Amino acid sequence: MKQSTHNNPKQAAGEQAAQLVKNNMIVGLGTGSTAAYAIKELGRRVASGMDILGVPTSYQSAFLAAECGIPLTTLDEHPAIDIDIDGADQIAGFTAIKGGGAAHTREKIVALSSKKFALVVDESKCTDVLAHPVPLEVLPFARKLVLKQVERLGGKAELRMGVSKDGPVITDNGNFIMDADFGKISDPASLGEQLSQCTGIVEHGIFTGVDTVYIGKKDGSVEITSL
Ligand code: 5RP
Repeated sequence: MKQSTHNNPKQAAGEQAAQLVKNNMIVGLGTGSTAAYAIKELGRRVASGMDILGVPTSYQSAFLAAECGIPLTTLDEHPAIDIDIDGADQIAGFTAIKGGGAAHTREKIVALSSKKFALVVDESKCTDVLAHPVPLEVLPFARKLVLKQVERLGGKAELRMGVSKDGPVITDNGNFIMDADFGKISDPASLGEQLSQCTGIVEHGIFTGVDTVYIGKKDGSVEITSL
């Protein structure tokens, strides 16, 4: 357990996790408000002389990293990432649901390209059994087919609609997002495998392979669990 000087749980988790990063590392930069605190802390460390290259998981993280002075690279140039730091919508142990920011496809590609995958969350995201709707990135052409396939798996999917935009959310990759409610997910790995087999789903938001979790608490402390 580590103590921060402020009591914003997301900030505490993000800033603590940024301390995992060492000089000369290639770093996956996650998306969302908690990962943003890690990116800002990395920016401060870069300003103090640390050398790193960031691989962004979205336009949001690319823009923020550029503002913070973090030099960026691509997976083409650096296919092996040292550490990825990202947020989550819900987490049970070392399995998470991501995609609240519609970025989970790139987030998963970056996570799977990383030697270490750290999640940063506030304590409200933690649960015993995952039950959050699972974000699905879907090819627009396959919209109706995906609704049917999700139904066959026992879920109910809804197209995510834009806020400050009429019509559906369009991802950074030009696709739709559906949120698929399966109720309590007793076997997330198995559901993930079944979703991976559905035609028209580009990627689902169930993430396994997490090795470290930073949980920010209301009192400013951060609980760190590692595999
Ligand atoms: C984006 C994500 C985010 O990491 C997730 O939605 C958590 O966001 P926040 O830290 O703002 O609560 O998966 O696709």
